[in-house]
Amino acid sequence: MKKALFAITLLAGFSIAHAADDKQSREDIAKNIQPVGQVHIGSGVPAAPAGPRSGEEVYKASCFACHGTGAMDAPKPGDSAQWEKRLGKGFDAVLQNAINGFNGMPARGTCATCSDDELKAAVEFLTK
Ligand code: HEC
Repeated sequence: MKKALFAITLLAGFSIAHAADDKQSREDIAKNIQPVGQVHIGSGVPAAPAGPRSGEEVYKASCFACHGTGAMDAPKPGDSAQWEKRLGKGFDAVLQNAINGFNGMPARGTCATCSDDELKAAVEFLTK
């Protein structure tokens, strides 16, 4: 009788330990898969943009480095004195300078993948 009880206890103990092991390993697998999945997404081809980027998105991604910091005297957004002076030659002329480059201003503000419309939106964001 004692022997049988011992065997049952042993068996129960074993299966509990085994179940816990199973759960543990499933969690481990889930944990191990996750970062791989994330890396895969991160290093994969970027998802196709849902539509044209907004002026603010383009600004933050490509223009902020200079225009947000004033590096190389790039005029900051909201600096109305600067922008009024520049817009004096007409919005289109200012936009053309952003597209083609202008002194320290690199062509397309370094955003090679930006369409003219996206650059226009970014210039509107900068000058508004
Ligand atoms: C490497 C730094 C740099 C980056 C990046 C940059 N700019 Fe500029 N930008 C400048 C500088 C410097 C000037 C001032 C040029 C001058 O007046 O001589 C300027 C001027 C401009 C002007 C005024 C043009 C004019 O006719 O007066 C516009 C508009 C402009 N940038 C738009 C943008 C946009 C839009 C982006 C992002 C897509 C961008 N810039 C990214 C440096 C930069």
